[in-house]
Amino acid sequence: MRRAIYPGSFDPVTNGHLDIIQRGCKLFDEIIVAVLVNPEKEAFFTIEERCEILTEVLKTIDRRDCRVTVESFGGLMVQYAAERSANAIVRGIRAISDYEYELQMALMNRRLRPDLETVFMMPAEEYSYVSSRLVKEVFQLGAHISELVPPLVEERMRKRMNLVPELRA
Ligand code: PNS
Repeated sequence: MRRAIYPGSFDPVTNGHLDIIQRGCKLFDEIIVAVLVNPEKEAFFTIEERCEILTEVLKTIDRRDCRVTVESFGGLMVQYAAERSANAIVRGIRAISDYEYELQMALMNRRLRPDLETVFMMPAEEYSYVSSRLVKEVFQLGAHISELVPPLVEERMRKRMNLVPELRA
């Protein structure tokens, strides 16, 4: 039984994240998409919203025989991974610029829990520039994001912007 944790902020989930999960489904029997609870980071969606959106959009991707679930977690990721008896952490790497930070985290996590492997995966080229941060930024400035995020995310972002008009650029 190969169980992986795919941790992140997912604020919001992008097509790049879904691409990584789909690829991960070829390697693992189970993937837990773990949404970090970080009260210090100002977020667009709440943890509950992010988990709910993820749960919905994950139904639309090809998961093969892999069981994909969504949970939130706080504290040390390796501790959480141990509690879930996970064998691996999955992280997506888009460009060399991601690598430095990801390598630092992977090595720190390895020091904290040597038996837990970090698996770096590359998304499809068309998502190599897509990040949650830039999606939020261009959306708030009026750009279309339909090719970057699942339709539900765009819909929920539109709703949120209507509810909070002062966020409009
Ligand atoms: O999507 P993100 O924001 O790049 O994800 C970062 C995440 C959640 C993987 C990272 O911040 C994390 O693991 N946080 C939990 C706290 C922790 O274990 N920190 C030590 C990392 S070496």
